[in-house]
Order: sequence, then C-alpha cells, then structure tokens
Amino acid sequence: MPDTAVSPRRLELEALIRVLVEEHTRMKEGLGQVRASVARRDFASASLALKGLESVFRQHIADEEAQVLRSLIDRMGVKGASEEIKVFQQHRPIYQLMQKVKELSALSAPELEANQARLAALFDDHTLAEEQRVFPKAIRKS
Ligand SMILES: [Fe+2]
Ligand SMILES: [Fe+2]
Repeated sequence: MPDTAVSPRRLELEALIRVLVEEHTRMKEGLGQVRASVARRDFASASLALKGLESVFRQHIADEEAQVLRSLIDRMGVKGASEEIKVFQQHRPIYQLMQKVKELSALSAPELEANQARLAALFDDHTLAEEQRVFPKAIRKS
C-alpha cells in the first residue's frame, strides 16, 4: 500500500503491543488536530498534522502486519485467524481515506468533512477491534 518500505521495529510482542496501543491514542489526537485545523481553514497546520500522522501510521501497520498478524497466523493458521485478518484489512481503506483527506483545500468543505468523519469512525472501529479482540488473542499463550 504505502510506496516506501518500512522495517518492523524489533520489539518483543507484548512490548510492541503496548507501543501500538499508545500510538492509537497519539493518532486519534493527531486526527483531532487535523480536524481542528480544518475547522479554522488552517490547511498548512492540517497538512503538517497529517504528515506526522501518516508516518506514525505506516510504521504502526508495518509492525501490526509483520509481527502481530504473523504470530496469529503462525499459531492459528490463515483460516483460524480469519477474523483478525479482516480487521487488518481495514488498514488499506484507512490509508486511502488519509490520502483523500490530504487533498484538503482541493475538496469542497462538505466533502472534506465527510471524509474526515469516515476516517475518524473507521479508525475508532479499527482500534477498538484491535484492542479488544486482536491484541489480547495475539499475546495469549495457548
Ligand atoms: Fe491496525
Ligand atoms: Fe493499530
């Protein structure tokens, strides 16, 4: 999806998951900053906040896919991990919505607002599913 390869961070799975959960909070704050900047029509700040958000997101999903998903598939097989795979398949639409929102002033105000609202809703859904279902399963010992 993103054009440049990102190397996964070398962290033990439980430590990685703590970092990922912290990043969910940081990225939600970032989305809030984007929204506040857009509301003031301050597209320069919105663009800066989006760039920061995107770089955190790229590293974040690289780690989720290379390490969290990998460990689930290793343990449960592709079929057994199908629910978790579905959750990780949300990464692409989230990334695509971020790219859309990055168009900022090129979008009409209602279009921009609609895309931001979709992005925030999908992001909330996604992080909730990871924190409540996927991560606990990934660190379960058996
Ligand atoms: Fe994710
Ligand atoms: Fe995540």
